[in-house]
Amino acid sequence: MREHDEGRSGRAHGLTRRRMLGIGGALGLMAATGLSASAALARRPSITGAELRSAVPLPPPFQVPLPVPAVLKPVGTSGGGDRYEITQREASAEILPGVRTPLWTYEGTFPGPTIESRRGRPITVTHRNELPVPTVVHLHGGRTPATSDGYPTDLVLPEGWHDAAMHTGHGSAHGMPAMRDPRAVVTKLTRDYTFPLDQRPTLLWYHDHRMDFTAPAIWRGLAGLHIVRDDAEDDLGLPAGPRELPLMIADRAFTADGSLAYPALDPTLRVRPGVHEPYLAGVLGDVILVNGAPWPVHEADAARYRLRVLNASNARHYELEAVTDDGRRLDLVQIGADQGLLAAPVTHRLLPIAPAERYDLIIDFKGVPVGSRVRLLNRLGSGRTREVMAFRIARKASDDSRIPRTLSTDLPTWRRSDAVRVRDFSFRAGQMHGGHGWLIGGQPFDPARADVTTHLGDVEIWRLVADVHHPIHLHLVGFRVLSRSGGPPLPYDAGLKDTVSLRPAESVEIITCFDGYRGRYLFHCHNAEHEDMAMMANLEIV
Ligand code: C2O
Ligand code: CU
Ligand code: CU
Repeated sequence: MREHDEGRSGRAHGLTRRRMLGIGGALGLMAATGLSASAALARRPSITGAELRSAVPLPPPFQVPLPVPAVLKPVGTSGGGDRYEITQREASAEILPGVRTPLWTYEGTFPGPTIESRRGRPITVTHRNELPVPTVVHLHGGRTPATSDGYPTDLVLPEGWHDAAMHTGHGSAHGMPAMRDPRAVVTKLTRDYTFPLDQRPTLLWYHDHRMDFTAPAIWRGLAGLHIVRDDAEDDLGLPAGPRELPLMIADRAFTADGSLAYPALDPTLRVRPGVHEPYLAGVLGDVILVNGAPWPVHEADAARYRLRVLNASNARHYELEAVTDDGRRLDLVQIGADQGLLAAPVTHRLLPIAPAERYDLIIDFKGVPVGSRVRLLNRLGSGRTREVMAFRIARKASDDSRIPRTLSTDLPTWRRSDAVRVRDFSFRAGQMHGGHGWLIGGQPFDPARADVTTHLGDVEIWRLVADVHHPIHLHLVGFRVLSRSGGPPLPYDAGLKDTVSLRPAESVEIITCFDGYRGRYLFHCHNAEHEDMAMMANLEIV
Protein backbone atom coordinates (compact mmCIF):
# COMPACT_ATOMS: atom_id res chain seq x y z
CA MET A 1 0.00 0.00 0.00
CA ARG A 2 1.48 3.32 -1.02
CA GLU A 3 2.06 5.82 1.77
CA HIS A 4 0.76 9.36 1.53
CA ASP A 5 3.32 12.09 1.12
CA GLU A 6 3.61 14.60 3.94
CA GLY A 7 2.17 17.47 1.93
CA ARG A 8 -1.01 15.57 1.28
CA SER A 9 -1.47 14.57 4.89
CA GLY A 10 -0.96 18.18 5.90
CA ARG A 11 -3.45 19.54 3.41
CA ALA A 12 -5.96 16.90 4.22
CA HIS A 13 -6.12 17.99 7.85
CA GLY A 14 -9.68 18.92 8.66
CA LEU A 15 -10.95 17.91 5.26
CA THR A 16 -13.20 15.17 6.38
CA ARG A 17 -13.85 13.44 9.59
CA ARG A 18 -14.14 10.05 7.97
CA ARG A 19 -10.41 9.78 7.58
CA MET A 20 -10.41 8.84 11.25
CA LEU A 21 -12.80 5.98 10.82
CA GLY A 22 -11.62 2.45 11.16
CA ILE A 23 -12.62 -0.27 8.78
CA GLY A 24 -12.36 -2.73 11.61
CA GLY A 25 -14.23 -5.99 11.64
CA ALA A 26 -12.83 -8.69 9.47
CA LEU A 27 -10.69 -6.27 7.51
CA GLY A 28 -9.22 -4.68 10.61
CA LEU A 29 -8.38 -8.13 11.85
CA MET A 30 -6.87 -8.94 8.50
CA ALA A 31 -4.55 -5.95 8.76
CA ALA A 32 -3.72 -6.59 12.41
CA THR A 33 -2.75 -10.19 11.87
CA GLY A 34 -0.85 -9.39 8.72
CA LEU A 35 -2.96 -11.84 6.80
CA SER A 36 -2.59 -11.00 3.15
CA ALA A 37 -5.64 -9.91 1.24
CA SER A 38 -5.32 -12.69 -1.27
CA ALA A 39 -5.13 -15.34 1.45
CA ALA A 40 -8.15 -13.89 3.22
CA LEU A 41 -10.03 -13.68 -0.02
CA ALA A 42 -9.22 -17.10 -1.33
CA ARG A 43 -12.59 -18.07 0.12
CA ARG A 44 -14.25 -15.62 -2.27
CA PRO A 45 -16.94 -14.47 0.11
CA SER A 46 -20.22 -13.91 -1.68
CA ILE A 47 -21.10 -11.06 0.65
CA THR A 48 -19.22 -7.85 1.34
CA GLY A 49 -20.67 -6.31 4.47
CA ALA A 50 -22.73 -7.32 7.46
CA GLU A 51 -26.46 -7.94 7.67
CA LEU A 52 -28.80 -6.05 9.96
CA ARG A 53 -31.64 -8.00 11.54
CA SER A 54 -35.13 -6.52 11.54
CA ALA A 55 -36.84 -6.22 14.91
CA VAL A 56 -40.41 -6.42 13.56
CA PRO A 57 -42.22 -9.50 12.28
CA LEU A 58 -41.67 -9.82 8.55
CA PRO A 59 -44.50 -10.60 6.13
CA PRO A 60 -44.63 -13.88 4.22
CA PRO A 61 -43.27 -13.60 0.67
CA PHE A 62 -45.32 -12.92 -2.45
CA GLN A 63 -48.33 -11.29 -0.76
CA VAL A 64 -47.83 -7.58 -1.36
CA PRO A 65 -48.59 -6.47 -4.93
CA LEU A 66 -45.65 -5.08 -6.88
CA PRO A 67 -45.94 -1.29 -7.00
CA VAL A 68 -44.80 0.53 -10.11
CA PRO A 69 -43.53 4.03 -9.32
CA ALA A 70 -45.69 6.81 -10.78
CA VAL A 71 -44.31 8.65 -13.79
CA LEU A 72 -43.69 12.30 -12.97
CA LYS A 73 -45.54 14.90 -15.06
CA PRO A 74 -43.68 17.93 -16.30
CA VAL A 75 -44.82 21.26 -14.87
CA GLY A 76 -44.12 23.00 -18.16
CA THR A 77 -41.82 23.36 -21.11
CA SER A 78 -39.11 25.85 -21.84
CA GLY A 79 -36.48 26.10 -24.57
CA GLY A 80 -37.50 22.86 -26.27
CA GLY A 81 -37.33 20.86 -23.08
CA ASP A 82 -39.51 19.81 -20.19
CA ARG A 83 -39.42 21.22 -16.70
CA TYR A 84 -39.98 19.10 -13.61
CA GLU A 85 -40.16 19.88 -9.92
CA ILE A 86 -39.23 17.49 -7.14
CA THR A 87 -39.52 18.26 -3.45
CA GLN A 88 -37.26 16.27 -1.19
CA ARG A 89 -39.14 15.76 2.03
CA GLU A 90 -39.81 13.47 4.94
CA ALA A 91 -42.78 11.17 4.52
CA SER A 92 -43.91 7.85 5.83
CA ALA A 93 -45.03 4.77 3.98
CA GLU A 94 -46.50 1.37 4.76
CA ILE A 95 -43.67 -0.78 3.44
CA LEU A 96 -44.34 -3.73 5.73
CA PRO A 97 -48.08 -4.40 6.06
CA GLY A 98 -49.45 -2.57 9.11
CA VAL A 99 -46.17 -0.79 9.87
CA ARG A 100 -45.47 2.92 9.26
CA THR A 101 -41.91 3.66 8.17
CA PRO A 102 -40.55 7.21 8.12
CA LEU A 103 -38.54 7.92 4.98
CA TRP A 104 -36.61 10.61 3.22
CA THR A 105 -38.20 10.90 -0.17
CA TYR A 106 -38.38 12.53 -3.54
CA GLU A 107 -42.00 13.75 -3.78
CA GLY A 108 -43.21 11.69 -0.84
CA THR A 109 -42.60 8.20 -2.21
CA PHE A 110 -39.93 5.50 -2.22
CA PRO A 111 -38.84 4.92 -4.94
CA GLY A 112 -39.26 8.51 -6.04
CA PRO A 113 -41.35 9.23 -9.13
CA THR A 114 -39.98 7.91 -12.42
CA ILE A 115 -38.94 10.45 -15.01
CA GLU A 116 -39.50 9.34 -18.60
CA SER A 117 -37.60 11.30 -21.17
CA ARG A 118 -36.77 11.20 -24.87
CA ARG A 119 -33.24 11.00 -26.19
CA GLY A 120 -31.91 14.47 -27.03
CA ARG A 121 -34.83 16.34 -25.47
CA PRO A 122 -33.39 18.23 -22.51
CA ILE A 123 -35.11 18.44 -19.17
CA THR A 124 -34.63 20.63 -16.14
CA VAL A 125 -35.48 19.29 -12.72
CA THR A 126 -35.84 21.81 -9.92
CA HIS A 127 -35.11 20.06 -6.66
CA ARG A 128 -36.29 21.67 -3.45
CA ASN A 129 -34.66 20.44 -0.27
CA GLU A 130 -37.08 20.27 2.65
CA LEU A 131 -35.07 17.58 4.43
CA PRO A 132 -33.15 18.37 7.61
CA VAL A 133 -29.73 17.95 5.95
CA PRO A 134 -27.95 19.15 2.79
CA THR A 135 -28.51 17.02 -0.30
CA VAL A 136 -27.03 16.57 -3.77
CA VAL A 137 -28.78 14.92 -6.72
CA HIS A 138 -26.92 12.77 -9.23
CA LEU A 139 -28.46 11.18 -12.32
CA HIS A 140 -26.58 7.89 -12.45
CA GLY A 141 -25.67 6.99 -16.02
CA GLY A 142 -26.59 10.45 -17.28
CA ARG A 143 -24.44 12.19 -19.85
CA THR A 144 -24.69 15.39 -17.92
CA PRO A 145 -22.72 18.67 -17.82
CA ALA A 146 -20.59 18.84 -14.68
CA THR A 147 -22.63 21.67 -13.14
CA SER A 148 -25.67 19.37 -13.00
CA ASP A 149 -23.88 16.10 -12.28
CA GLY A 150 -24.24 16.28 -8.53
CA TYR A 151 -20.65 16.61 -7.38
CA PRO A 152 -20.69 15.61 -3.67
CA THR A 153 -19.85 19.08 -2.38
CA ASP A 154 -22.35 20.91 -4.63
CA LEU A 155 -24.80 20.93 -1.77
CA VAL A 156 -28.37 22.14 -1.68
CA LEU A 157 -28.73 23.43 1.86
CA PRO A 158 -32.04 23.16 3.70
CA GLU A 159 -33.70 26.18 5.28
CA GLY A 160 -31.74 27.41 8.27
CA TRP A 161 -28.79 25.09 7.80
CA HIS A 162 -25.77 26.38 9.69
CA ASP A 163 -23.24 26.37 6.93
CA ALA A 164 -20.91 28.43 9.14
CA ALA A 165 -19.71 25.28 10.87
CA MET A 166 -18.82 23.71 7.56
CA HIS A 167 -16.47 26.50 6.59
CA THR A 168 -14.83 27.48 9.85
CA GLY A 169 -13.18 24.12 10.30
CA HIS A 170 -14.25 24.14 13.94
CA GLY A 171 -16.70 21.55 12.77
CA SER A 172 -14.03 18.99 12.12
CA ALA A 173 -13.08 18.95 15.79
CA HIS A 174 -16.64 17.80 16.44
CA GLY A 175 -16.57 15.41 13.58
CA MET A 176 -18.23 17.80 11.11
CA PRO A 177 -17.08 17.13 7.57
CA ALA A 178 -15.52 20.47 6.77
CA MET A 179 -16.26 20.93 3.10
CA ARG A 180 -13.17 22.85 2.15
CA ASP A 181 -13.76 22.58 -1.51
CA PRO A 182 -13.23 25.96 -3.14
CA ARG A 183 -14.91 24.72 -6.33
CA ALA A 184 -18.12 23.66 -4.63
CA VAL A 185 -21.25 25.41 -5.86
CA VAL A 186 -23.55 25.48 -2.86
CA THR A 187 -27.14 26.67 -3.19
CA LYS A 188 -29.82 27.40 -0.64
CA LEU A 189 -33.08 25.44 -0.68
CA THR A 190 -33.36 24.78 -4.41
CA ARG A 191 -31.25 23.91 -7.41
CA ASP A 192 -32.02 23.45 -11.09
CA TYR A 193 -30.41 20.38 -12.59
CA THR A 194 -30.31 20.36 -16.39
CA PHE A 195 -30.01 17.07 -18.27
CA PRO A 196 -29.49 17.23 -22.05
CA LEU A 197 -30.13 13.44 -22.30
CA ASP A 198 -28.18 13.31 -25.53
CA GLN A 199 -27.44 9.63 -24.97
CA ARG A 200 -28.50 6.09 -25.78
CA PRO A 201 -31.92 5.17 -24.38
CA THR A 202 -31.66 3.22 -21.14
CA LEU A 203 -32.71 2.92 -17.51
CA LEU A 204 -30.94 5.50 -15.34
CA TRP A 205 -31.54 6.29 -11.71
CA TYR A 206 -31.25 9.40 -9.65
CA HIS A 207 -30.05 9.34 -6.10
CA ASP A 208 -28.46 11.40 -3.37
CA HIS A 209 -24.69 11.94 -3.64
CA ARG A 210 -23.85 14.07 -0.62
CA MET A 211 -20.24 13.95 0.53
CA ASP A 212 -19.76 11.34 3.27
CA PHE A 213 -23.51 10.64 3.65
CA THR A 214 -24.63 9.07 0.38
CA ALA A 215 -25.17 5.57 1.77
CA PRO A 216 -27.57 6.45 4.59
CA ALA A 217 -29.43 8.98 2.40
CA ILE A 218 -30.12 6.38 -0.29
CA TRP A 219 -31.02 3.87 2.43
CA ARG A 220 -33.63 6.29 3.82
CA GLY A 221 -35.26 6.53 0.42
CA LEU A 222 -33.50 9.06 -1.80
CA ALA A 223 -33.55 7.07 -5.04
CA GLY A 224 -35.74 7.09 -8.12
CA LEU A 225 -35.79 5.83 -11.70
CA HIS A 226 -35.34 7.63 -14.99
CA ILE A 227 -36.03 6.00 -18.34
CA VAL A 228 -34.66 7.49 -21.55
CA ARG A 229 -36.46 6.35 -24.70
CA ASP A 230 -36.17 6.93 -28.42
CA ASP A 231 -38.06 6.09 -31.60
CA ALA A 232 -35.63 3.41 -32.76
CA GLU A 233 -36.11 1.45 -29.57
CA ASP A 234 -39.88 1.97 -29.61
CA ASP A 235 -39.94 0.46 -33.10
CA LEU A 236 -38.23 -2.79 -32.09
CA GLY A 237 -41.47 -4.40 -30.93
CA LEU A 238 -40.19 -5.29 -27.45
CA PRO A 239 -42.78 -5.98 -24.74
CA ALA A 240 -44.24 -2.62 -23.73
CA GLY A 241 -46.95 -0.92 -21.72
CA PRO A 242 -48.01 -3.12 -18.79
CA ARG A 243 -45.54 -5.77 -20.01
CA GLU A 244 -42.57 -3.51 -19.33
CA LEU A 245 -41.73 -3.38 -15.63
CA PRO A 246 -38.99 -1.45 -13.88
CA LEU A 247 -37.71 -3.42 -10.89
CA MET A 248 -35.68 -1.49 -8.33
CA ILE A 249 -34.26 -4.10 -5.98
CA ALA A 250 -32.98 -2.93 -2.61
CA ASP A 251 -32.49 -4.53 0.79
CA ARG A 252 -33.45 -2.82 4.03
CA ALA A 253 -33.94 -3.65 7.70
CA PHE A 254 -36.47 -2.34 10.21
CA THR A 255 -36.27 -1.38 13.87
CA ALA A 256 -38.95 -2.27 16.44
CA ASP A 257 -40.79 1.04 15.87
CA GLY A 258 -40.95 0.44 12.12
CA SER A 259 -38.26 2.85 11.03
CA LEU A 260 -35.43 1.79 8.78
CA ALA A 261 -32.48 0.43 10.72
CA TYR A 262 -29.09 1.80 9.70
CA PRO A 263 -25.93 1.64 11.81
CA ALA A 264 -25.02 5.33 11.43
CA LEU A 265 -22.61 6.77 13.98
CA ASP A 266 -24.77 9.91 13.89
CA PRO A 267 -28.39 8.96 13.20
CA THR A 268 -29.26 12.60 12.43
CA LEU A 269 -26.83 12.40 9.49
CA ARG A 270 -25.92 15.98 10.25
CA VAL A 271 -22.45 15.90 11.68
CA ARG A 272 -20.56 12.70 11.93
CA PRO A 273 -20.34 10.37 8.94
CA GLY A 274 -19.71 6.65 9.06
CA VAL A 275 -21.20 3.44 10.37
CA HIS A 276 -20.53 1.22 13.35
CA GLU A 277 -17.63 -1.11 13.00
CA PRO A 278 -19.18 -4.41 11.97
CA TYR A 279 -20.76 -2.66 8.97
CA LEU A 280 -17.71 -0.88 7.57
CA ALA A 281 -17.53 -3.23 4.59
CA GLY A 282 -21.18 -2.57 3.71
CA VAL A 283 -24.69 -2.51 5.18
CA LEU A 284 -27.06 -5.32 4.23
CA GLY A 285 -30.71 -5.66 5.18
CA ASP A 286 -32.74 -8.81 5.79
CA VAL A 287 -35.77 -7.60 3.80
CA ILE A 288 -35.71 -7.56 0.01
CA LEU A 289 -37.77 -4.76 -1.48
CA VAL A 290 -38.73 -4.43 -5.13
CA ASN A 291 -40.03 -0.96 -6.01
CA GLY A 292 -40.32 -0.39 -2.28
CA ALA A 293 -42.44 -3.48 -1.48
CA PRO A 294 -41.22 -6.52 0.47
CA TRP A 295 -40.97 -9.70 -1.64
CA PRO A 296 -43.84 -8.54 -3.86
CA VAL A 297 -45.94 -10.52 -6.29
CA HIS A 298 -47.07 -9.39 -9.72
CA GLU A 299 -50.03 -10.81 -11.64
CA ALA A 300 -48.75 -11.48 -15.13
CA ASP A 301 -50.02 -12.63 -18.50
CA ALA A 302 -48.57 -15.84 -19.92
CA ALA A 303 -46.50 -13.72 -22.30
CA ARG A 304 -43.15 -11.96 -22.70
CA TYR A 305 -42.21 -9.26 -20.23
CA ARG A 306 -39.45 -6.70 -20.35
CA LEU A 307 -37.88 -6.38 -16.90
CA ARG A 308 -35.70 -3.35 -16.35
CA VAL A 309 -33.75 -4.37 -13.30
CA LEU A 310 -31.73 -2.04 -11.09
CA ASN A 311 -29.81 -3.15 -8.03
CA ALA A 312 -30.26 -0.08 -5.82
CA SER A 313 -28.91 -1.83 -2.73
CA ASN A 314 -26.07 -0.19 -0.84
CA ALA A 315 -23.87 -3.28 -0.70
CA ARG A 316 -25.84 -6.41 -1.52
CA HIS A 317 -25.04 -8.41 -4.65
CA TYR A 318 -27.62 -10.71 -6.17
CA GLU A 319 -27.45 -13.62 -8.52
CA LEU A 320 -30.90 -13.80 -10.02
CA GLU A 321 -32.71 -16.82 -11.38
CA ALA A 322 -36.35 -17.24 -12.40
CA VAL A 323 -37.79 -20.54 -11.22
CA THR A 324 -41.21 -22.05 -11.94
CA ASP A 325 -43.23 -23.97 -9.34
CA ASP A 326 -42.11 -27.24 -10.92
CA GLY A 327 -38.48 -26.24 -10.57
CA ARG A 328 -37.80 -25.16 -14.13
CA ARG A 329 -35.42 -22.26 -14.66
CA LEU A 330 -36.62 -19.73 -17.23
CA ASP A 331 -34.20 -17.98 -19.54
CA LEU A 332 -33.31 -14.41 -18.76
CA VAL A 333 -32.70 -12.92 -22.18
CA GLN A 334 -30.56 -9.85 -21.78
CA ILE A 335 -31.26 -7.13 -24.32
CA GLY A 336 -29.57 -4.19 -22.63
CA ALA A 337 -26.90 -3.17 -20.15
CA ASP A 338 -26.37 -0.07 -17.99
CA GLN A 339 -26.03 2.14 -21.04
CA GLY A 340 -28.67 0.75 -23.34
CA LEU A 341 -29.34 -1.97 -25.87
CA LEU A 342 -26.85 -4.69 -26.69
CA ALA A 343 -25.97 -5.42 -30.30
CA ALA A 344 -27.76 -8.78 -29.98
CA PRO A 345 -29.54 -10.64 -27.16
CA VAL A 346 -27.54 -12.75 -24.68
CA THR A 347 -29.30 -15.54 -22.80
CA HIS A 348 -28.56 -16.16 -19.11
CA ARG A 349 -29.87 -18.73 -16.66
CA LEU A 350 -28.22 -16.96 -13.72
CA LEU A 351 -27.59 -13.25 -13.64
CA PRO A 352 -25.26 -11.61 -11.14
CA ILE A 353 -26.09 -7.96 -10.45
CA ALA A 354 -23.93 -5.67 -8.34
CA PRO A 355 -25.02 -2.42 -6.69
CA ALA A 356 -25.95 0.26 -9.28
CA GLU A 357 -25.87 -2.11 -12.24
CA ARG A 358 -28.89 -2.34 -14.55
CA TYR A 359 -29.96 -5.18 -16.78
CA ASP A 360 -32.67 -5.02 -19.41
CA LEU A 361 -34.20 -8.51 -19.59
CA ILE A 362 -36.91 -10.35 -21.45
CA ILE A 363 -38.61 -13.22 -19.69
CA ASP A 364 -41.27 -15.34 -21.38
CA PHE A 365 -44.09 -16.71 -19.25
CA LYS A 366 -45.73 -18.46 -22.20
CA GLY A 367 -46.04 -22.11 -21.27
CA VAL A 368 -46.12 -21.40 -17.54
CA PRO A 369 -49.43 -22.89 -16.27
CA VAL A 370 -52.08 -20.34 -15.35
CA GLY A 371 -52.36 -20.11 -11.58
CA SER A 372 -48.75 -21.07 -10.95
CA ARG A 373 -45.85 -18.83 -10.03
CA VAL A 374 -42.44 -17.88 -11.29
CA ARG A 375 -40.21 -16.84 -8.42
CA LEU A 376 -37.27 -14.51 -8.89
CA LEU A 377 -34.63 -15.87 -6.52
CA ASN A 378 -31.26 -14.66 -5.33
CA ARG A 379 -28.71 -17.47 -5.27
CA LEU A 380 -26.36 -15.39 -3.12
CA GLY A 381 -28.92 -14.93 -0.37
CA SER A 382 -29.64 -17.15 2.58
CA GLY A 383 -32.95 -17.69 4.35
CA ARG A 384 -35.38 -14.91 3.48
CA THR A 385 -32.84 -13.04 1.35
CA ARG A 386 -32.89 -15.92 -1.15
CA GLU A 387 -36.29 -14.68 -2.29
CA VAL A 388 -36.80 -11.51 -4.31
CA MET A 389 -40.29 -11.47 -5.83
CA ALA A 390 -42.76 -13.63 -7.75
CA PHE A 391 -44.96 -13.44 -10.80
CA ARG A 392 -48.31 -15.18 -10.57
CA ILE A 393 -49.39 -16.19 -14.04
CA ALA A 394 -52.98 -15.00 -14.07
CA ARG A 395 -54.17 -15.63 -17.62
CA LYS A 396 -53.36 -16.80 -21.13
CA ALA A 397 -52.83 -13.92 -23.48
CA SER A 398 -51.82 -13.14 -27.02
CA ASP A 399 -48.36 -11.75 -27.55
CA ASP A 400 -47.18 -9.80 -30.57
CA SER A 401 -43.89 -8.71 -29.00
CA ARG A 402 -40.58 -9.78 -30.47
CA ILE A 403 -36.91 -9.96 -29.59
CA PRO A 404 -35.07 -8.82 -32.72
CA ARG A 405 -31.79 -10.57 -33.47
CA THR A 406 -30.22 -7.16 -33.99
CA LEU A 407 -31.06 -4.79 -31.18
CA SER A 408 -28.76 -1.89 -31.94
CA THR A 409 -25.97 -0.95 -34.32
CA ASP A 410 -24.59 2.14 -32.59
CA LEU A 411 -22.46 0.59 -29.86
CA PRO A 412 -19.01 2.14 -29.69
CA THR A 413 -16.31 -0.21 -30.95
CA TRP A 414 -13.13 1.18 -29.42
CA ARG A 415 -10.08 -0.95 -30.09
CA ARG A 416 -7.05 -1.25 -27.87
CA SER A 417 -5.03 0.59 -30.47
CA ASP A 418 -7.38 3.60 -30.12
CA ALA A 419 -6.30 4.16 -26.54
CA VAL A 420 -3.92 7.06 -25.98
CA ARG A 421 -3.08 5.89 -22.46
CA VAL A 422 -3.51 3.10 -19.96
CA ARG A 423 -4.12 3.77 -16.27
CA ASP A 424 -4.02 1.43 -13.30
CA PHE A 425 -6.19 1.71 -10.22
CA SER A 426 -6.36 -0.52 -7.19
CA PHE A 427 -9.50 -0.68 -5.06
CA ARG A 428 -8.53 -1.89 -1.62
CA ALA A 429 -8.95 -1.48 2.09
CA GLY A 430 -5.96 0.28 3.56
CA GLN A 431 -4.53 2.76 5.99
CA MET A 432 -5.97 6.25 5.97
CA HIS A 433 -5.04 9.01 8.38
CA GLY A 434 -5.33 7.40 11.76
CA GLY A 435 -7.34 4.37 10.70
CA HIS A 436 -8.49 2.11 7.93
CA GLY A 437 -10.30 3.23 4.82
CA TRP A 438 -11.42 2.19 1.38
CA LEU A 439 -8.89 3.54 -1.05
CA ILE A 440 -8.33 4.01 -4.76
CA GLY A 441 -4.67 3.76 -5.68
CA GLY A 442 -3.85 3.88 -1.99
CA GLN A 443 -5.53 7.23 -1.47
CA PRO A 444 -8.76 8.39 0.18
CA PHE A 445 -11.05 10.77 -1.71
CA ASP A 446 -10.07 14.41 -1.61
CA PRO A 447 -12.17 16.89 -3.63
CA ALA A 448 -9.10 19.11 -3.95
CA ARG A 449 -6.85 16.52 -5.60
CA ALA A 450 -6.70 15.89 -9.35
CA ASP A 451 -6.66 12.10 -9.65
CA VAL A 452 -7.28 11.75 -13.36
CA THR A 453 -6.95 14.57 -15.86
CA THR A 454 -7.80 13.70 -19.42
CA HIS A 455 -8.71 15.48 -22.61
CA LEU A 456 -12.14 15.63 -24.14
CA GLY A 457 -12.28 12.90 -26.76
CA ASP A 458 -9.38 10.80 -25.45
CA VAL A 459 -9.78 7.04 -25.51
CA GLU A 460 -8.23 5.31 -22.50
CA ILE A 461 -7.87 1.82 -21.09
CA TRP A 462 -8.22 1.50 -17.33
CA ARG A 463 -7.02 -1.56 -15.44
CA LEU A 464 -8.95 -1.97 -12.21
CA VAL A 465 -7.89 -4.38 -9.50
CA ALA A 466 -9.83 -5.29 -6.37
CA ASP A 467 -9.37 -6.90 -2.95
CA VAL A 468 -13.02 -7.65 -2.07
CA HIS A 469 -16.10 -7.01 -4.27
CA HIS A 470 -16.14 -3.47 -5.63
CA PRO A 471 -18.72 -2.30 -8.20
CA ILE A 472 -16.82 0.50 -9.95
CA HIS A 473 -18.76 3.33 -11.54
CA LEU A 474 -17.62 6.14 -13.83
CA HIS A 475 -19.66 9.29 -14.15
CA LEU A 476 -20.40 10.81 -17.58
CA VAL A 477 -19.20 8.00 -19.83
CA GLY A 478 -20.12 4.47 -20.76
CA PHE A 479 -17.36 1.92 -21.16
CA ARG A 480 -16.82 -1.57 -22.51
CA VAL A 481 -15.26 -4.42 -20.59
CA LEU A 482 -12.15 -5.70 -22.37
CA SER A 483 -10.97 -8.46 -20.08
CA ARG A 484 -11.28 -10.10 -16.67
CA SER A 485 -8.12 -11.31 -14.95
CA GLY A 486 -6.45 -11.65 -18.31
CA GLY A 487 -9.27 -13.68 -19.84
CA PRO A 488 -12.26 -12.68 -21.92
CA PRO A 489 -15.13 -10.70 -20.39
CA LEU A 490 -18.06 -12.58 -18.85
CA PRO A 491 -21.36 -12.98 -20.72
CA TYR A 492 -22.87 -10.35 -18.36
CA ASP A 493 -20.25 -7.79 -19.43
CA ALA A 494 -21.75 -7.32 -22.91
CA GLY A 495 -22.71 -3.91 -24.21
CA LEU A 496 -22.03 -0.49 -22.84
CA LYS A 497 -21.71 -0.22 -19.07
CA ASP A 498 -21.22 2.49 -16.48
CA THR A 499 -20.68 0.20 -13.51
CA VAL A 500 -18.55 -2.94 -13.53
CA SER A 501 -18.51 -5.50 -10.77
CA LEU A 502 -14.97 -6.34 -9.68
CA ARG A 503 -15.02 -9.66 -7.91
CA PRO A 504 -12.64 -10.51 -5.09
CA ALA A 505 -8.99 -10.43 -6.17
CA GLU A 506 -10.01 -9.78 -9.77
CA SER A 507 -8.56 -7.37 -12.30
CA VAL A 508 -10.72 -5.92 -15.05
CA GLU A 509 -9.78 -3.86 -18.08
CA ILE A 510 -12.24 -1.32 -19.44
CA ILE A 511 -12.02 1.01 -22.43
CA THR A 512 -13.85 4.30 -22.89
CA CYS A 513 -13.80 7.62 -24.64
CA PHE A 514 -14.07 10.71 -22.45
CA ASP A 515 -16.43 12.66 -24.62
CA GLY A 516 -19.49 14.72 -23.83
CA TYR A 517 -18.52 17.57 -21.57
CA ARG A 518 -15.50 19.10 -19.91
CA GLY A 519 -15.43 19.52 -16.18
CA ARG A 520 -15.04 17.79 -12.87
CA TYR A 521 -16.55 14.34 -12.57
CA LEU A 522 -16.02 11.29 -10.40
CA PHE A 523 -15.37 7.63 -10.40
CA HIS A 524 -15.99 5.52 -7.36
CA CYS A 525 -17.02 2.27 -5.82
CA HIS A 526 -20.82 1.94 -5.72
CA ASN A 527 -20.83 -0.08 -2.58
CA ALA A 528 -22.35 3.00 -0.95
CA GLU A 529 -20.55 2.46 2.36
CA HIS A 530 -17.22 2.17 0.55
CA GLU A 531 -18.06 5.33 -1.37
CA ASP A 532 -18.78 7.24 1.84
CA MET A 533 -15.56 5.90 3.34
CA ALA A 534 -13.43 7.53 0.66
CA MET A 535 -13.40 5.05 -2.24
CA MET A 536 -13.94 7.83 -4.75
CA ALA A 537 -11.68 9.90 -7.01
CA ASN A 538 -11.82 12.90 -9.30
CA LEU A 539 -12.05 12.64 -13.05
CA GLU A 540 -11.29 15.97 -14.66
CA ILE A 541 -11.95 16.37 -18.37
CA VAL A 542 -10.17 19.34 -19.92
CU1 C2O B 1 -24.83 6.13 -8.73
CU2 C2O B 1 -21.62 8.55 -8.37
O1 C2O B 1 -23.26 7.38 -8.53
CU1 CU C 1 -23.16 8.07 -11.54
CU1 CU D 1 -15.99 -1.05 -2.85
